[in-house]
Amino acid sequence: MTVPDADARGPAPANPGMIATADDPVNPLRDPRDRRIPRVAGPCVLVMFGVTGDLARKKLMPALYDLANRGLLPPGFSLVGFARRDWEDEDFAQITYQAVKEHARTPFRETVWQQLAEGMRFVPGEFDDDAAFDKLAATVRELDRERGTGGNYAFYLSIPPRFFPLVVEQLKRSGLSDPSISGTDTGTGRPPWRRVVIEKPFGHDLESARELNNIVDAVFPAESVFRIDHYLGKETVQNILALRFANSLYEPIWNRSFVDHVQITMSEDIGIGGRAGYYDGIGAARDVIQNHLLQLLALTAMEEPVSFEANSLRQEKEKVLSAVRLPTDLAAGTARGQYAAGWQGGRQVIGYLEEEGIPPDSRTETYAAVKLGVDTRRWAGVPFYLRTGKRLTRRMTEIALMFQRAPHLPFAATDTEELGQNALVIRVQPDEGVTVRFGSKVPGSAMEVRDVNMDFAYGESFTESSPEAYERLILDVLIGDPPLFPRQEEVELSWRILDPIENFWAEYTKPEQYPSGSPGPASADAVMARDGRAWRRL
Ligand code: BG6
Repeated sequence: MTVPDADARGPAPANPGMIATADDPVNPLRDPRDRRIPRVAGPCVLVMFGVTGDLARKKLMPALYDLANRGLLPPGFSLVGFARRDWEDEDFAQITYQAVKEHARTPFRETVWQQLAEGMRFVPGEFDDDAAFDKLAATVRELDRERGTGGNYAFYLSIPPRFFPLVVEQLKRSGLSDPSISGTDTGTGRPPWRRVVIEKPFGHDLESARELNNIVDAVFPAESVFRIDHYLGKETVQNILALRFANSLYEPIWNRSFVDHVQITMSEDIGIGGRAGYYDGIGAARDVIQNHLLQLLALTAMEEPVSFEANSLRQEKEKVLSAVRLPTDLAAGTARGQYAAGWQGGRQVIGYLEEEGIPPDSRTETYAAVKLGVDTRRWAGVPFYLRTGKRLTRRMTEIALMFQRAPHLPFAATDTEELGQNALVIRVQPDEGVTVRFGSKVPGSAMEVRDVNMDFAYGESFTESSPEAYERLILDVLIGDPPLFPRQEEVELSWRILDPIENFWAEYTKPEQYPSGSPGPASADAVMARDGRAWRRL
């Protein structure tokens, strides 16, 4: 967190492997304050479980290539795929090649690809197959010898959580999880490291999250566990900290004395695609509010951390999450919906209940809205409205601080008819930037005041393009930099917020149908209308 991304510091060096890394503290040439030296991962193997999944193909493999292309992986970096497929190393490399060609952010360069491909191995097997895990252990040790990966292994569990117990147990049984038995001399005077990366969902409620944690905790120490919330890897989300704590302009008004309410929106135009198996029974609130939106709320509402070091940052987020208050009337303060058939981007689309693999009587929501309070001196009385949904009007994520109206308007009422509430909007995606909205006099002889926008757009202010969230997060894992990864306490606090809402919904409500391509169900508008407010237009 403390060091800006390499892209911001010019092109990557030609000899990334020669540069000091976070795992090599003894290099006398490295000054951590020197922004010209990019943070580069040290020698290691990334073992990926779930390589045949969508996430691996669309995000993880391309991100690895992009990191290599930016010179942020060491030359010996190796990737081992493990899956139930009858593949040779070359088949795995071919699948990865296609994924990279299709989804990588940076241009394709044959030399970079060749170097990456040389370090790719594939181990076929089931999760309950001891022999396959022994083969995996032999494979990574061979890589240590052949490619100098130093006995450092990261295990990426991009698999459904029901397999966690089995895989974690196998990592232990095969000796893979234990750095002390790697038998590798790292040459740094330090023992090699082990890290485990966990993709959400971190359980489906507080209890299951705890069970999951106990399983991982029994084998890996807390500081080796990296939980991915990919929203925290987004440039615009990290910029919340810069916007708030590097400037003096906003912080004085960032509180209940000026802010009327906050709206956090994550709207998607896509449906569930081929994810019926994961999504049904989970729904929008568990899928997105429990993690992404509560993290955005925490970053927006938290106090200034002492530093951006992991503990300080997490502590401040945890304070906010533990101060979140649910509406006393959950029926009035929450809403949920399910997309029906409709039109999306000029195309006719089917409803959720018609999607393949979804039971026709499913009560899973694809839209969720909740009103939350934050019981702190800074935010008492300021509602935070969170909403998310699939198959809505358009794809857009934003955090909008809506300000109180001026206490007195010395104008004729008709002069300010067009004046809305002042707003500060962090545009997380897709049109990344920040908007400040305020009233301005319309040119002419009358004193008419109308809303105008002042805009910061990433595309205009910076020539560097933002790395994908997964580039940043995978690099942080390989370097061992934890601030962008929520720890178990945050996960549990978030489930504490969501569990009562889920229980209430399960017992008393059925999601309201909304047409695909619309802004969501009417019941979500009613949540706002009861408070005399309205959602920002999608
Ligand atoms: C994932 C959810 O975490 O985030 C998906 O499981 C959702 O349902 C996705 O589509 C959205 O990510 P992004 O980065 O496109 O906003």
